[in-house]
Amino acid sequence: MSADVRAAIVGLGSYVPQKVLTNQDLERMVDTSDEWITQRTGIKERRVVSEADSTASMGTEAGRRACAAAGVDPADLDLIICATITPETLCPGSACYIQRDLGAAPAAAFDLAAACSGFLYGLAVAARFIESGQFKNCLVVGSETLTRFTDWTDRSSCILFGDGAGAAVLQPTRDPNRGFQYCVMHADGSGWDYIWIPAGGARMPASTETIERRMHFLKMRGRDVYKFAIEKMQWLLADCMAACDLTPDAVDLVVPHQVNIRIIKSATRKLNFPLEKVYVNIDKRGNTSAASIPIALDEAARAGRIGPGSTVLLIAFGAGLTWSGAVVRL
Ligand code: UT7
Repeated sequence: MSADVRAAIVGLGSYVPQKVLTNQDLERMVDTSDEWITQRTGIKERRVVSEADSTASMGTEAGRRACAAAGVDPADLDLIICATITPETLCPGSACYIQRDLGAAPAAAFDLAAACSGFLYGLAVAARFIESGQFKNCLVVGSETLTRFTDWTDRSSCILFGDGAGAAVLQPTRDPNRGFQYCVMHADGSGWDYIWIPAGGARMPASTETIERRMHFLKMRGRDVYKFAIEKMQWLLADCMAACDLTPDAVDLVVPHQVNIRIIKSATRKLNFPLEKVYVNIDKRGNTSAASIPIALDEAARAGRIGPGSTVLLIAFGAGLTWSGAVVRL
């Protein structure tokens, strides 16, 4: 292991399906209104997969774009991690389909289930492999097909979620001003039932009864998640800045998990952090769990809001419960 090697993000890519589901569309499906959804969440529309798309196909396209941006031939990848809670199949992992479709065999490939924190957990794992000297080209994908696990009769959750994928290629760097400067990861399994999908796993295998009781859909204790998210968003932002001795002036952009505009605003207000330095696309994308941060990161880069030399804070929290943050210099 070489102590002066860091992992750097050298390419980003994302993919969202074409089909748009607006709040007005949802008004026709459940007892809700554009006004309620906009005020309570900041979401106006979200993308939804068609028959042709799935977690692996979206992850593959995002991965292909990230490799192209990095100038890395997918055949040269050493590792592919797919962060997802909506896997292509329970077995094998989505990362294996992505590896096959990218033509990246025999790169190591596995899934990582840390929900909305999954992409940041994946970055941390890949970074450790790079720092240890074991791998050089690592692809971390966050891909979710949440709308196939959404209960479209449950107005308290179906308004939130969207589909999509984002990806980053990581490589080693010896430049101390680039790469991962800090990362933090935590979990508290006592909150397992804040957000969960009860059936379809080993605990409650699929049966006629589980289908009739709609147990294969995501269940959420929205208010409890809200309180947890408010606390963690604020804590992570403060922790990342303190760990790297950063003031808001020294931060180019915060890319938070796109969970709810009220949660983002509350944390930034309490810490006196300027909202203009926070990337928000929840109005167009909704909550895409593990795909949320890499999609936002790629969009921010393509919009010119970040580029080489930028200091970026990444902040996520979600089912598990899990929470994670990172400070990255591009
Ligand atoms: O990545 C993590 C995934 N989880 C999340 O992102 C969820 C985080 N939580 C939240 O974003 C918020 O808790 C929600 C947006 C889900 C809900 O907002 P809230 O301000 O916490 O509302 P609430 O659950 O306290 O419900 C307030 C009212 C209730 O009516 P009553 O009991 O006051 O009459 C709900 O029945 O709003 C009602 N309601 C709705 N009304 C219209 C709940 N969903 C809807 C809806 N349209 N879609």
